[in-house]
Amino acid sequence: MIVVKTRVELQEKLSRVADDCVVGFVPTMGALHNGHCSLIDFAVKESDYTVASIFVNPTQFNDANDLENYPRTIESDLELLKQHGCDLVYIPNVDDVYYNERSFFVDLNGLDKVMEGEFRPGHFDGVVDVVSRLFDIVKPDKAFFGEKDFQQLSIIRYMSRDLNVDVVGCPTVRENDGLAMSSRNMLLEKSYRDEASVIYKSLNWAKDNYKGFAVSELKEEIGKRISETGKFIVEYINVVESDTLISIDEWTDNNVNCCVAVYAGKVRLIDNIKLNY
Ligand code: PAF
Repeated sequence: MIVVKTRVELQEKLSRVADDCVVGFVPTMGALHNGHCSLIDFAVKESDYTVASIFVNPTQFNDANDLENYPRTIESDLELLKQHGCDLVYIPNVDDVYYNERSFFVDLNGLDKVMEGEFRPGHFDGVVDVVSRLFDIVKPDKAFFGEKDFQQLSIIRYMSRDLNVDVVGCPTVRENDGLAMSSRNMLLEKSYRDEASVIYKSLNWAKDNYKGFAVSELKEEIGKRISETGKFIVEYINVVESDTLISIDEWTDNNVNCCVAVYAGKVRLIDNIKLNY
């Protein structure tokens, strides 16, 4: 596995890859876990040459403490990427990614205004900026993102519709007790970690039972179940159309997802489930 730190080195290495090779890309912020490994596995399976990046992108953090505390585990990250067959890893510094001024504005059709966009103002501006910069640098044919970050995946799909990148969504990977894998899980204090499966259990309950409830009642019931432990503070619970992310008040035949954000002490966790498809 080749490791490079600059876009110039990266592009030099990629220029040696045959033109007809499908380049698959997995952008990450490091602190890799099995969820990332599964993205690499998808990329290896669906492409001829797999590139990953490890870059904790400062512009998508709207809280300086969150950025500072974000876990960094570069040695074990490299080991995992190698084990899973990644061909090339790009580990840039901030200047290498943000090397030019550019006004990057994409109208995201409101996808960035709800849920995470409402509670983390500016977050998706940072995500869209960095992903488009990374796409410009790596020029992948395919890029792989987890369905756990459901809103991020929708936004990246939307922003990529005119770029020549096929955005592939990959299923959420869960711990044995159902907690969605996330780099933030390693920051959870034990007492929160012990109870955190209630988030997925509540979503799963919603999937099995939503037909018997009005949308507002369902959200209330999920909130009750998550809060019952006395450990978690729910930031939002939303039921949205999967394509538009528009909140629904009444059930529809369109695909819908139920999305939640929850505070476990200082750690913020998100998760979602497909309800009717
Ligand atoms: O999902 C993430 O880890 C990040 O938001 C991403 C896509 C790597 C951009 O920094």
